[in-house]
Amino acid sequence: MKYQNEINTRRTFAIISHPDAGKTTLTEKLLLFGGAIQTAGAVKSNKIKKHATSDFMEIERQRGISVATSVMTFEYKNCLINLLDTPGHKDFAEDTYRTLTAVDSVILVIDSVNGVEAQTKWLMEVCRMRDTPVIVFINKMDRDGKNRFDLLEEIENELNISLHPMSWPINSGKDFKGVYDIHNKNLILFTANTKAEDEDVLEIQDLSNPLLDNKVGERDAAILREDIELIDGVYGELTKEDYLSAKIAPVFFGSAVNNFGVKEMLDIFITIAPTPLDRQTSVREVKANEDKFSGFIFKIHANLDPKHRDRIAFMRICSGKFERNTYYHHVRLDKDVRFSNPYSFLARSKDVIEEAFPGDVIGLFDTGNFKIGDTLTEGENFYFVGIPTFSPEIFKEIVNKDPMKTKQMEKGVQQLTDEGVAQLFTQHGGNKKIIGCVGDLQFEVIQYRLLHEYGASCEFRTLPFYKACWLTSDNQNKLDDFLRFKQQNAALDKDNHPVYLAQSEWYLNTEITNNPDIKFHFSSEIHK
Ligand code: G4P
Repeated sequence: MKYQNEINTRRTFAIISHPDAGKTTLTEKLLLFGGAIQTAGAVKSNKIKKHATSDFMEIERQRGISVATSVMTFEYKNCLINLLDTPGHKDFAEDTYRTLTAVDSVILVIDSVNGVEAQTKWLMEVCRMRDTPVIVFINKMDRDGKNRFDLLEEIENELNISLHPMSWPINSGKDFKGVYDIHNKNLILFTANTKAEDEDVLEIQDLSNPLLDNKVGERDAAILREDIELIDGVYGELTKEDYLSAKIAPVFFGSAVNNFGVKEMLDIFITIAPTPLDRQTSVREVKANEDKFSGFIFKIHANLDPKHRDRIAFMRICSGKFERNTYYHHVRLDKDVRFSNPYSFLARSKDVIEEAFPGDVIGLFDTGNFKIGDTLTEGENFYFVGIPTFSPEIFKEIVNKDPMKTKQMEKGVQQLTDEGVAQLFTQHGGNKKIIGCVGDLQFEVIQYRLLHEYGASCEFRTLPFYKACWLTSDNQNKLDDFLRFKQQNAALDKDNHPVYLAQSEWYLNTEITNNPDIKFHFSSEIHK
């Protein structure tokens, strides 16, 4: 338990939202509080967003969608906070999923006008799979939103989660007057574009205090009193355990663009959000406070700097202390590796670090040693579990348009699929290369990146598959026969594991019924 102090100060989380709900804006405000970016001027003119602290790739800037995950580290009130950004676009769902395996909690941003949206639902499902504790931030209270009780009900019903309001808004839109901080019993009056220190905060322990009428008017004061009484009756007490076990999500109301309600949430966040959690491996549970180091790779990103062909593996540290220039055991390759320039992320700038602790995410220069899900230890052999690959939804054959660039093309495809941009399958008994993605946009990204980073041009031919299933069997002969008979639908994944590519649910069910000796798996985790 040598590193308990470091563990106690760390919070590793992600902000998730449907695109446009305000994730980027909230991220910027949190970075401001943490001093990781400079003052509100830049934010007001929105320069930071245009220069995108969280966007690494040219293509992101072009499309204005965050296609890459980035990590931002900042300090706030003696806490070291690691904020992992997730792409909002559905086509990068797998990237988001992997990032969420590396965090201990999330803040979910909901647009008060639009309520629960398609991506919000999907993201919550992912959080539920891992019982990730959630804090909800209802954003854009400066706009005429839905009735707040209706909105909470909608969130509870649609996301299948119980809520607990920590603050309560007084009106919305142009009548928005601020929030009552139920937890600290403070009235916080709304002013647009405030800096946190300028916030107009008044302690009102007892809501019958006439100061309330004075500040927000008799009518709104009366409504607030009624609302709070109702909330006390309906929502009861919130215990930290209910939040940590993901049973109840505390809710805050605010306006990220106006920096309103953000500080209250951050202050509560650092007191209740989980410190780095223990994690399950293929062999045993690894406790965060074990002395020996362990960590796993959840993301690989190539060419952060277009001038260099560098590739960076993002590693989440799960236990012990990681040190620069020290040999660690790469479990999959069964070899020892060390890193002379590991770095931490402070928005875009990269600082070389000497050591890192559980909860930290560090960047490791990679020359092709890493794949997503790889584990590093001080010698023990285990894999962190829960970082599976799921079936893609769209399958296309990739065709090289320039035979002079075959090598570049192969290298590019290999590296992009190692990064997890897409999945690569090779036709069983043939050479056909099949790329599987969750959305069409990924094919565009691959085409663009192959051309701009590897000088290889390609085109895609649509294939009639809808799902990939990983195959295992106790009877190797039966499996081999199946793969031979079904050659048109059989492929090998990147690690040479056999896969069945199904044309439709009907075909898949038929094969499952006809081949009782073969197991069809919907994620690749079975091979760990
Ligand atoms: P995202 O990362 O979740 O996709 O959302 P982002 O922060 O980019 O916010 C989407 C839009 O919502 C932005 O406006 C942003 O300024 C606005 N926004 C964020 N928080 C609030 C809020 O509290 N109130 C209001 N009224 N708007 C908010 P945009 O016009 O798309 O971009 P921009 O030109 O302002 O950058």
